[in-house]
Amino acid sequence: MSKKDAQVFSLLFAMADALGLSEERELAQIFGVSPETIQNWRTGAVGELKPGKLAQVESAFAAQIAALRERAGAGAGDLDSGMTHLDIAPEANPSELQRLLRDRMHYDYLGHRFLYFEPQGALAWENLIRGGYEQATWLAGVRHAAREWLSTGRAKDGSAKGPIAAAMGVGRRGRTRGLDVISLGPGEGGKEVVILGALEEAEAVDPPPWRSLTLVDVSISLLLRAALAARRAVTGLPFERAQVTAVCADFEEGPLDFARRLPSERHDPDASRRLVLILGNVFGNVRHEDAFVRQKLHFLTRPGDLLWLEVGLRSERPELDPVYRMTQPSETETAAETHRRLLLEGPYRRWEAALGRRPADVRLRVWVREDDDSATIPGSYNFCHDLVLESERRAVTMLYSRRYDLAGLSRWLEQRGYAIERVEKVADTRHVDRVAHILLRRTGDA
Ligand SMILES: C[S@@+](CC[C@H](N)C(=O)[O-])C[C@H]1O[C@@H](n2cnc3c(N)ncnc32)[C@H](O)[C@@H]1O
Repeated sequence: MSKKDAQVFSLLFAMADALGLSEERELAQIFGVSPETIQNWRTGAVGELKPGKLAQVESAFAAQIAALRERAGAGAGDLDSGMTHLDIAPEANPSELQRLLRDRMHYDYLGHRFLYFEPQGALAWENLIRGGYEQATWLAGVRHAAREWLSTGRAKDGSAKGPIAAAMGVGRRGRTRGLDVISLGPGEGGKEVVILGALEEAEAVDPPPWRSLTLVDVSISLLLRAALAARRAVTGLPFERAQVTAVCADFEEGPLDFARRLPSERHDPDASRRLVLILGNVFGNVRHEDAFVRQKLHFLTRPGDLLWLEVGLRSERPELDPVYRMTQPSETETAAETHRRLLLEGPYRRWEAALGRRPADVRLRVWVREDDDSATIPGSYNFCHDLVLESERRAVTMLYSRRYDLAGLSRWLEQRGYAIERVEKVADTRHVDRVAHILLRRTGDA
């Protein structure tokens, strides 16, 4: 057998091996030949493939890849019909979460992970962003930041002007890196779709070897919507190079096992970058920011990787924040406030209904906490959302919603090994800066 032919056979077996086919019998079956023929291909007793056999091998490989595609829920048929593939970590199994909720109902802190995992909570979130939440403004803010940070125009040193495009090496011949985007708490995924669109525009100049998007959320209802919308938004790269993975997992308390499956795990660290998205002030909702950064974000990022935070800003006058109104006694409630209240009462109401209890007298209390263990980042304060259980004479915290001072937060993040690359502020319809998008680069261990 010539060296060239030997290389073709070696490639054929390596491909089959990568697809999980190494048994002689299996190979014979999928290529439509006898096991002896496979033996002859391996030993070199056959010099080259006849045209008919070559066509059989080609179509067998194509069928295997199509089957993988179907298994990943990325077939064209699935996209049309809305069938969606989902991976579920054990801690995020809805009945496991319900059990945890039951166990913790007697504690003083429940937290935001319980707000959306049931369908009613997910629907309450969708109602909230549909009315009075200014969602169009926040989506426009994401679009603007994504375009700036993915700009492929040239800086003086020849790198791309946009820091995400530069980190990927876009425009540097032969050096574009693969990108793993990981979104923690995407909800219904509207912002991720916007970011995918901007990525596709930037990559048109210089496509990366691969790009993946991993959506991580405990809410199955919201994840399904996010995953389908994101899969439909991928048009620039072929499926094999642009996977969208939906993972139902707890990013605050779970082990983040999905990270072991990221494509960047299989390549040299410098051949890829990761971009972790934490949008919609989810960072301001976690219980302990310090533990979250040190244990979870450090695990997900490597030096050189990027972190995109969208956080709520502290306003000069707290009364300019729409949530402030909820801290004050009032006889009336706006539609947005009603959706917020329903969202926050929901887990308690469903828990008492499951136990067959009569609806208790509960009241939502929103109050400002500052300089305590719920607001440790300098300059931040916390709109703490509690349910007051009147008959039990106690309260349970459902949600932290912090507002940050940009300088205080930036210093705090820098001390933990994240350098600020860019900041874009977003004003609401009354021209008050309410949100900041912060792009950070992991510098090293701190
Ligand atoms: C406010 S919502 C959606 C925010 C969205 N990123 C945005 O910008 O509109 C927060 C999402 O985080 C999810 N979430 C909260 N805590 C979580 C946790 N510990 N693990 C996984 N998902 C969580 C919720 O299920 C919800 O979908």
